[in-house]
Amino acid sequence: MENKKEAILKELAKRTPKSGKYWEESKDLIPGGLMSGARSMAPYPVYVERAKGAYLWDIDGNKYIDCVCSYGVHLLGHGPESVVEAIGKQYDLGLSYGTPHTREIDFSKRFVACVPCAEIGMVCNTGTEATLLAWRLMRAATGKNKIAKFEGCYHGWHDYAQWSVGINPDKMGPADRPNINPGASGIPDKIKETMLMLPFNDSAFDLIEEHADELAGVAIEPVLGGGMLPVDKSFLEKLRKVTKKLGILLHFDEVITGFRLALGGYQEITGILPDLATYGKIVGGGLPIGAIACSKALVKVAQETDNGWAAAGTFSGNPLTLSTGAATLKYLQENTHIYEDMMKKGEFLRNGFNDYVKSKGYPFCMTGLGSMFQIHAQAELPLVPRDTLYQDEDALENLQLQFRLNNILLPWMHLAFFGAAHTEADLGEMLEGFKASVDGTMEM
Ligand SMILES: Cc1ncc(COP(=O)(O)O)c(C=O)c1O
Repeated sequence: MENKKEAILKELAKRTPKSGKYWEESKDLIPGGLMSGARSMAPYPVYVERAKGAYLWDIDGNKYIDCVCSYGVHLLGHGPESVVEAIGKQYDLGLSYGTPHTREIDFSKRFVACVPCAEIGMVCNTGTEATLLAWRLMRAATGKNKIAKFEGCYHGWHDYAQWSVGINPDKMGPADRPNINPGASGIPDKIKETMLMLPFNDSAFDLIEEHADELAGVAIEPVLGGGMLPVDKSFLEKLRKVTKKLGILLHFDEVITGFRLALGGYQEITGILPDLATYGKIVGGGLPIGAIACSKALVKVAQETDNGWAAAGTFSGNPLTLSTGAATLKYLQENTHIYEDMMKKGEFLRNGFNDYVKSKGYPFCMTGLGSMFQIHAQAELPLVPRDTLYQDEDALENLQLQFRLNNILLPWMHLAFFGAAHTEADLGEMLEGFKASVDGTMEM
């Protein structure tokens, strides 16, 4: 007799025949069938045809509540008026010049006004480029070579960043001195010597002190996207104090949290200022972007070194991205009330979900902050990445099938978002959909 999972797979195949067909074709044309490794989905991804506001429609005509939001890009939903207008205007003026232009000024004034640690800002094309450039800046300004990062933090996919992001329990090493493991083949082994891996406990401060002479900077995601785990404020305060005392730069990677939790990101919420911060996603208003914010003095020191501090990029600061970026920042500056509203909606979602699973005795929980959330297949709320390692993988996969069945689209690892375009009714539907999804998963 057909089991429940087989019946669901059959139902999903019936609902998404065209996506299934494109998936077969993609695997033949694109390595692994995906343009970004993070986009896999059980049993195969849905192929999206269009998006508007808080919704996506796939090529088979199914409508979903969008909790991918392009991995956190679309704070204002898909196609907000201000961005559409900016694209139309800039389209008529030209897409890319390879020369300076006035949109740089408008964007930069707004960016620097919003970000607490910013006196000056620099734009590139992705968050990955931003962290690469930020770490080069930290090395140039201090004359030291090593960068410390925390186990489980993601800072993009460049060769310096992709160490111990996903944690393998067989290789992770002791809790006070985590091993440094590559996240992919092809990363030169030598780079490991320029990195220090820190744990999310007090041993981090001992390690920083031990390596102070060689450490240019310490990088951290103030809310970890992998797991949606906010870092404790007292831990960040101590990190700020210790790095300052030892002459080590502190880097907050706000590629996800920047402009999402508050206009000034996590720095504004905690009042803790890093020496430099990186951005991406929301600041581009829907188009590819990365950005760095820091003090003028820091840039000056790096520029005055023997070899200077340089960066380039054919598309860096192109007028189209800066037009959509500036339009988005302008909207956010004029509508800061949306942040309080999203904080409240996030509380509603997390409390509603966590109360429900607790009342049912289900081994699930939801973490996150504001409009960022993640469902875990474990009863205990995780606080740090190592707390998430022993989840029920089958339950996570079954949960993914249930999300699709309930017409809610989430990224595969379930780090998820909503935005200002998601109404109270959407949030209500999401909560009911998540409850139905865990009910369904418990029956599988
Ligand atoms: C904290 C953080 N840093 C850096 C990046 C890399 O950004 P991008 O994907 O634009 O290269 C990401 C991407 O999700 C991120 O979450």
